[in-house]
Amino acid sequence: MQKTYNWGIIGLGKIARLFAEDLAKLDNARLSAVASRSQERADAFAKEFGAAHAYGSYEAMMECPELDVVYIATPHSLHHENTLMCLNAGFSVLCEKAFALNARQAEEMVNLARSRGLFLMEALWTRFLPTTTKALELIQADTIGRIQSVKADFGFKAPYDAESRLFNPALAGGALLDIGLYPVFLAYLMLGEPQEVHAAARIGATQVDEEIGMLFSYADGRMAHLHATLRAHTKTEAFLYGDKGTLHWHTRWHEPSNFSIIGEDGRPHNHYFEWATNGYSFEAQEVMRCLAEGRTESELWPLDKTLGLMRLLDRVRREVGLVYPGEVEG
Ligand SMILES: NC(=O)c1ccc[n+]([C@@H]2O[C@H](COP(=O)([O-])OP(=O)(O)OC[C@H]3O[C@@H](n4cnc5c(N)ncnc54)[C@H](OP(=O)(O)O)[C@@H]3O)[C@@H](O)[C@H]2O)c1
Repeated sequence: MQKTYNWGIIGLGKIARLFAEDLAKLDNARLSAVASRSQERADAFAKEFGAAHAYGSYEAMMECPELDVVYIATPHSLHHENTLMCLNAGFSVLCEKAFALNARQAEEMVNLARSRGLFLMEALWTRFLPTTTKALELIQADTIGRIQSVKADFGFKAPYDAESRLFNPALAGGALLDIGLYPVFLAYLMLGEPQEVHAAARIGATQVDEEIGMLFSYADGRMAHLHATLRAHTKTEAFLYGDKGTLHWHTRWHEPSNFSIIGEDGRPHNHYFEWATNGYSFEAQEVMRCLAEGRTESELWPLDKTLGLMRLLDRVRREVGLVYPGEVEG
């Protein structure tokens, strides 16, 4: 008989809600516990989603007797602390992107999970979407030939609020960790570790990057052109230019319903996808598949890839002199 996994969620904001909606659509998942800084918010969320346990602090949830895995949905600056707490309590963890502030924190999280033999994964949901799986399959089949360059952007006009998660440096706000991570992820997934990283950023009044442009070059001459901004809506598309064709992810490319392969004849061949969830069901299913198989990491997005991505984000930040308050320089 299929096991039902008991999930907990820490931090009951926007993404927690979308994730909880998706868990409710999965037969083998149950939202068992939620934790908030506010008991009132935890009670309301638990009532809405039918969770048995509602905790008014994150620490209190560590006493929950029936959790299999905790989803961490707090701002970037708390991922390290929240993940260590859950692992120390013996829970498996799915932690939102950006996984940590920097590679040093990420290494500590990964080392603890590995030393305790517990499952840990970065909630890089785009990696688990059917579109990504299909794109990788087509690339492997040499459909567009050898990728020569990657081009990707992600931009939206965020309402300005200096205290908000997006602009507050104490919460590790800024474009890079919130949305720039996606183009960086795509370049890293497709081309690996670049030899050179160039970047320029527009640092705003709160001292976070409100816009960032990145150019990566690789030892074999290949390139990635990447852009993210909180100041304007951009097309939010991605292109993989190969020597036999192009893979064009339509907007918004990190959660697309379709992409096109444009071959040497210049004609687009479209691939359409439909799913009945917010898209977070795929990462949740990957977690439960791994737990069922006794794995402590996902082979689709292993922890070494998470560490590689964090190191790359650190390299970009060094280029633009972006340091978060209280951060120990790595
Ligand atoms: N995968 C995706 O598509 C996606 C989309 C959006 C965001 N994210 C990621 O998910 C995480 C949360 O984003 P979000 O958009 O859900 O943020 P959000 O709406 O601001 O929610 C974050 C939650 O964290 C908790 N929190 C703890 N300390 C906080 C503090 N000092 N300030 C603000 N909130 C605090 C709060 O919950 P309580 O008050 O209940 O404790 C808050 O509701 C981030 O890592 C973000 O990058 C991912």
